[in-house]
Amino acid sequence: MIAYTSDLVWSADKAYSIDDDVTPLLRNIQQQAITRNTALDITGLLMFWDGSFFQVLEGEEEAIRNVFTSIEKDPRHCHVRCLLDEDIPERIFSQWRMRCLNLNAQCSFDKSELIEMMQAYRNTFKPTRKSLMRVFHHTLPFNDLSI
Ligand SMILES: Cc1cc2nc3c(=O)[nH]c(=O)nc-3n(C[C@H](O)[C@H](O)[C@H](O)COP(=O)(O)O)c2cc1C
Repeated sequence: MIAYTSDLVWSADKAYSIDDDVTPLLRNIQQQAITRNTALDITGLLMFWDGSFFQVLEGEEEAIRNVFTSIEKDPRHCHVRCLLDEDIPERIFSQWRMRCLNLNAQCSFDKSELIEMMQAYRNTFKPTRKSLMRVFHHTLPFNDLSI
């Protein structure tokens, strides 16, 4: 499992603001991700909040390293900072080829804990696998969404 945070690069001449609609961008990333992740049997989650990304990639070590190498070079974001890189006994997101959650938008579930988590990770805090799993199992609507 690899988990990282990064910051959106919105455009060359303008920083991201909360009024900007990131939906087309997220759709585009998700489309790319689903195609490649399906081929490589990678699962995970991509969250966006207030100009930052948080992503978890799960799968065979070589596969996730290859995809992460591409992701790190992607000009649509910067400040890619790895938070966690370790083997996991089983996948958390086995049904999600790459579920995208925009926490700036309306959600059908309580997102406050996820936002707190993103805020903490942005401020150099590093999670443990256990703490991540606890937040995910507690907050994410695994049954409502599959992609
Ligand atoms: C925040 C973010 C998350 C991404 N997540 C994935 C992903 O999970 N899987 C994937 O294949 N590409 C993902 N991409 C797209 C890759 O960066 C890259 O564009 C794509 O894999 C094609 O890589 P290539 O140009 O090296 O062939 C993501 C991009 C961004 C900006």
